[in-house]
Amino acid sequence: MNAAPTSFLNEFKAEADQLVARYAQRRAAILPLLRLFQERHGYISEEIERETADYLGIPLIDVREVLSFYTLLRRRPTGKICVNVCRTLACKLRGGEEILEKISSKLGIQPGETTPDGRYTLEEVECLGACELAPMIQVNDAYVGPVTEEKIDPILSGSAKAGRKDGVLIGGVTTSARLEPGSNSNASISKFFSRGTTYFLDDYLKEGGWEAARQAFEKFTPEALVDEVKKSNLRGLGGAGFPAGMKWSFVPKNTGKPIYLVVNADEGEPGTFKDRYVIAYAPHLLLEGILIASYANHIHKAYIYLRGEYEEGYQILVKAIREAESKGFLGKNIFGKGFDLDLVLHRGAGAYIAGEETGLLESLEGKKAFPRLKPPFPAVVGLFGCPTAINNVETIAYLPFIVKDGAEKFASMGSPKNGGLRLFSVSGHVARPGVYERPLGYSLRQLIEDSGGVWKGRKLKAVVPGGLSAAVLKADEVEVGLDFDQLKGIGTMAGSAGIMILDETTCMVEALLVTMRFFAHESCGQCSPCREGTGWVEKILARIAGGRGREKDIDTLLDISGYMGGTTICALADGACMPLGSYLRKFRDEFEFHIREKHCDVKEIYAQAHD
Ligand SMILES: Cc1cc2nc3c(=O)[nH]c(=O)nc-3n(C[C@H](O)[C@H](O)[C@H](O)COP(=O)(O)O)c2cc1C
Ligand code: SF4
Ligand code: FES
Repeated sequence: MNAAPTSFLNEFKAEADQLVARYAQRRAAILPLLRLFQERHGYISEEIERETADYLGIPLIDVREVLSFYTLLRRRPTGKICVNVCRTLACKLRGGEEILEKISSKLGIQPGETTPDGRYTLEEVECLGACELAPMIQVNDAYVGPVTEEKIDPILSGSAKAGRKDGVLIGGVTTSARLEPGSNSNASISKFFSRGTTYFLDDYLKEGGWEAARQAFEKFTPEALVDEVKKSNLRGLGGAGFPAGMKWSFVPKNTGKPIYLVVNADEGEPGTFKDRYVIAYAPHLLLEGILIASYANHIHKAYIYLRGEYEEGYQILVKAIREAESKGFLGKNIFGKGFDLDLVLHRGAGAYIAGEETGLLESLEGKKAFPRLKPPFPAVVGLFGCPTAINNVETIAYLPFIVKDGAEKFASMGSPKNGGLRLFSVSGHVARPGVYERPLGYSLRQLIEDSGGVWKGRKLKAVVPGGLSAAVLKADEVEVGLDFDQLKGIGTMAGSAGIMILDETTCMVEALLVTMRFFAHESCGQCSPCREGTGWVEKILARIAGGRGREKDIDTLLDISGYMGGTTICALADGACMPLGSYLRKFRDEFEFHIREKHCDVKEIYAQAHD
């Protein structure tokens, strides 16, 4: 249905029509459409809401639901400069709270407020996927970090002159994080990182880029390619670790419906920032992997679902996709083999749960990112009700190496059943935070050493080994290989390989409070155990941290964890239970001390020992 253009839409009708044309269903264009309108108007007014509903042919309530769900969509005007301060664990560990206080007092406003002159709006936000910059902030679209007290004035005054609305980005998104090649750098993604600038098409071709995709068409039938990926032991690197080739073999190829590829570039798991690097430095590696995955699965339409805040990544991908289209690597009759592939870059709008694969599909269809009950799995009933392969950016980016070097070589680089290398995001109390590419199965203790060891010469207290949803490890548990099976074997998980280091000065009550506040904030609210449980846990932990804990609190928390685990639609609640149970069990003394003595003594003990 194509409703008559109305006043606001009239101005942007041509752009809006182009956006809508990219999707199989009109309403799927709602996020890009609202983002376009917000960019032009500053916020989504009621008039724009109504016009959007009419234009897409959906009820007004559906537009309002979407608006209220995604944090990047605004229903009110904001200041010219939006300052978002990250409050999640990696930033907290490196002084994020103090930075927030300082900025708040300099601007004279609290989070959620705008200065009276309408210049600045201050917000506290959850992890922005840049934990190596901790403590970091976002000024309009630009990521800035590590922020120190001395840098606050220049950042704020610099942003007054620049800022997105004047068409200039402030600060640097990409930084000098440490990037080191894996032990076998032939199959290394991070070899593209070390130069510090993007490998656009010409540079990528000089590195032999797009040869692997050509070889895939020449050497393999689609079915043989799926088998090759199975043999490579490539695991899904988004978090669940499901073998990639096996997942593809579940995608029915002869239903008569289109088959879709959806690339998960939502990167929301706190502590994880490696997909940002793949996109920023090696966008064509990702695009080449997308072509290979599409060929293997008889796919002619692929979507990249990109985290809404990744503005730099968006600009880079737009350019790289245009380059690939102009050289015939995307589009019609690729390599003269009669194979077509249309790739759509779709931006999210701020919701952790949109990274969960079925939440992502709902979001891509233009709805709130409410996860779906499984089965059916997306392989069978996915995007627009059609068979869909969903993979993480990094999983896809390793495919060209598998094609070029062969499955056996790739498998041999990792550990049993965990093929190849992996990008580890290392952050927190470590001397050199950054992305480290290492073989699967690499020693956690060694990786901590490789990243400079615990900062300031302090002792290790704990490690979060696989993103915020992973069970915490104590310092004496780091003699373990970093792969999906070994970490599972010691009661935690490899997850997204977001490794956060906690030193001896860390208060575990506060660390858990920050962790659970994240899950309470991000619960989509569909399941009561998750919605109520995460909120309740956050309240109890805040009480304990504030010196008002009660004797029964620890048992109550463990009980709540028992009710939440395994009872919900998606794994967010299970992901919340992992840190909850492990912090309480492994650091119970510390929680008991807070309840009994009504304060924290961790920093005191450290100070006394170092007097
Ligand atoms: C709450 C939640 C959040 C998730 N967020 C992400 C994410 O940001 N990026 C990602 O690739 N996978 C994420 N996942 C995992 C996806 O559901 C899915 O397993 C993955 O995209 C599949 O790709 P892979 O097999 O290549 O890993 C999340 C899962 C859950 C339960
Ligand atoms: S577990 Fe939580 S996030 Fe997942 S569907 Fe239920 S309420 Fe939503
Ligand atoms: S960017 Fe702050 S915790 Fe990730």
